[in-house]
Amino acid sequence: MSFAPAELLSDSFATDPHPVYHRMRGAAPVLWHEPTAGWYVTGHREVGALLREPTLSARPGDGFTDRLTGTDRAAGDRVEDFFDRWMVFSDAPAHTRLRTAASAMCAPRAAETWRDAASRDANTLLADLDLNTADFAHDFALPLATAVTCDFLGVPADDREQLGVWSDALMAYLAAQWAEPATTRQADRALAELRAYLTARTAARPRDAPSPCLDMLAAVGPDNAPALFAQLLTGGIEPVAACLATAIAETAAGPGPVLEADTADLVEEALRFDAPFHIVPRTATAELEVAGSRLRPGDRVVLVIAAANRDPLVHRDPDRFTPGRPAAGRHLAFGAGQHYCLGAPLARTVLTAGLEAVRQRLRSAAVRGVTAEREPRVGATVWRRVALMA
Ligand code: HEM
Repeated sequence: MSFAPAELLSDSFATDPHPVYHRMRGAAPVLWHEPTAGWYVTGHREVGALLREPTLSARPGDGFTDRLTGTDRAAGDRVEDFFDRWMVFSDAPAHTRLRTAASAMCAPRAAETWRDAASRDANTLLADLDLNTADFAHDFALPLATAVTCDFLGVPADDREQLGVWSDALMAYLAAQWAEPATTRQADRALAELRAYLTARTAARPRDAPSPCLDMLAAVGPDNAPALFAQLLTGGIEPVAACLATAIAETAAGPGPVLEADTADLVEEALRFDAPFHIVPRTATAELEVAGSRLRPGDRVVLVIAAANRDPLVHRDPDRFTPGRPAAGRHLAFGAGQHYCLGAPLARTVLTAGLEAVRQRLRSAAVRGVTAEREPRVGATVWRRVALMA
């Protein structure tokens, strides 16, 4: 199987990445990609091992803001300082402190308490949908993920839209190969506004009013609070919405066995089949030999979990959506090791509640087909539209 380096930069890769991931993995489970100066790891065994490898740092390498100048560079430095404080981009001991502070809110038992609210929100959204015209990505999955995440973070419903704007601005900064002036300025502005918002919310908190989120933010201090809040906000919305839309598209399009599958199996297969985050970035801090390749300190390493999830050495017929398949739980959509997704229990709660509600609603409808279009996006699954023909 041959892989041409230019494929990774092509427009078709951004809208249909899985064939390229297959060719990369077929060429070698670990390969150096000269145009982006990074190691790409696509084999399930290698990705699983490197997610747990202590000599790989979660801190991105330097140079992301090198092309910025003047006031944009100063804005870029502020935004970088903010992202440096994200749990997911931190190593111990900072990582341990942040993870410990957030773990009670994200524990499985706490996540389970959101199930009824998620079901209620899902049914309310569905009640207003015309199955023939609805876009399940934007009219259902996104508002459901936003509603539950904002409730989880104690954000009043009136503030949801504003938080979505800040979250989009911060994510747009990250979604590029290099920091760009316009997205850097936007992210810098969003960050300043988010910081002011959290300060105001803390000041306005009535004495003795319970707020697990504000308690958690107080525990990490004002310099780290916006970063922790933003990571939970963005982590809770985009990937959950993407996975729910994938699950709806594949369930509605599927033949009899798919329609009859258990909802939890459908969710796990959606996570495997189209991992919402395709990649996990790392930086080598020591020499490391993996599958015959030698990584050196400072090397950029891209762990492609979306490719590992479709490795034919682990999953038979990996491009087929097969709920309940053997080894279904061996997907890496939530990562593994120290940085294993802290929100996985909440994500599973929202995904099963949302998909269950959709299945109930579709039970009496005859779905004749599905149109699902992806947004061109490198490194993540984002749905432009998921519509059913009912
Ligand atoms: C289907 C939904 C989700 C997917 C696919 C997903 C995926 C991931 C992945 C792959 C990682 C590991 C990244 C790495 O190793 O560098 C991660 C980390 C994380 N996720 Fe999620 N996530 C989802 C939902 C959520 C939710 C709902 C939240 C919280 C509300 C959340 C919060 C986090 C946090 C805080 C981390 C950092 C953990 C650490 O660094 O120790 N995620 N997520």
